[in-house]
Amino acid sequence: MTIITCIDDLKRLHRRRVPKMFWDYAESGSYTEQTFRENCSDFSKIRLRQRVAVDMSDRKLATEMIGQPVTMPVALAPVGSTGMQWADGEIKAARAAEKFGVPFTLSTMSICSIEDVAANTAKPFWFQLYVMRDEDFVDEMIERAKRARCSALVLTLDLQILGQRHKDIKNGLSAPPKLTLPNILNMMTKPRWCMGMLGTKRRSFGNIVGHVKNVGDLASLSSWTNEQFDPQLDWKKIARIRDQWGGKMILKGILDPDDARMAADFGADAIVVSNHGGRQLDGALSSIRMLPQIVRAVGDQVEIHVDGGIRSGQDVLKAIGMGAKSTFIGRSFIYGLGAMGEEGVTQALEVIRKEMDITMALCGERDIRNFGRHNLLVPADFEGVWA
Ligand code: GLV
Repeated sequence: MTIITCIDDLKRLHRRRVPKMFWDYAESGSYTEQTFRENCSDFSKIRLRQRVAVDMSDRKLATEMIGQPVTMPVALAPVGSTGMQWADGEIKAARAAEKFGVPFTLSTMSICSIEDVAANTAKPFWFQLYVMRDEDFVDEMIERAKRARCSALVLTLDLQILGQRHKDIKNGLSAPPKLTLPNILNMMTKPRWCMGMLGTKRRSFGNIVGHVKNVGDLASLSSWTNEQFDPQLDWKKIARIRDQWGGKMILKGILDPDDARMAADFGADAIVVSNHGGRQLDGALSSIRMLPQIVRAVGDQVEIHVDGGIRSGQDVLKAIGMGAKSTFIGRSFIYGLGAMGEEGVTQALEVIRKEMDITMALCGERDIRNFGRHNLLVPADFEGVWA
């Protein structure tokens, strides 16, 4: 029995227990993976300020995201093909999140359908929408999200075309995996995963299959994006979606102060400062490095969340200290899911909660809502001079 003390422990188990194709899918950035790596390494440039002899009893991590109570400022990010990391993965992760009291975001490119997740959970979750060329499909997806009682729409703006991830091409990534000899040999070394997948019917993109016509290869994310995602997405189309949805809306994939101003003027309920986990524009700066500029530009107008590179409670605190109201984790919970299903997601959340709690106390704070820039030590050149 492995004792889990940090996210890295879950990551090691994930790698061991899940077929290479899906491990690689989760653990990839686009092209050279520079942005993917720097999302993490830039967090380590920020330090925490130790304070002593202050009352650290009765600590509180609870706060709000878009007016909804959360037990800590960490939401589960939308991750495509989550149900390929562990059988019924979206349902498992959503259940772990609802028991923990943090939001779960279902990806458009999920394996379990939105109806399935709604039927198997008790509390409303968030739905992430990709904008497709086919407006009828988009409208139908929005209606399905309303029927599923989703409490926010998370509109992703940074993936209208797909940044290339070399490993996915080399592995022939698909859901379900094609039964080639290398895939079969690799799956044979993952008995836990195979048993799970044999025991579920959910093995293809549940929101899509059976809901669209005229698509070449439904099993492949890349052919689906090429054929279906709308390369002409603009603010007018985003406004049309908002009118159709009529509820809380979070705009995800903002990495530039100019775009942040557009999003704030648009009236988004929140923005997610994000470069899609380094999976899209390789060469973009890390989310944590771009965050301060965006906070300066629109921090008084719109709620700001951030994702990319968060692997610990310390990272969450650094993000909050740099001005984010809250954070999203993707890989950190996927490692847990791939390692041991729902229990692993709970463990990932628990690891992060404990790290946040102790670290906040060692910084001399008792309430996450008071944690701020005064708790950090940030090198003068952290943001860099870029022209
Ligand atoms: C999909 O959102 C991906 O990044 O693979």
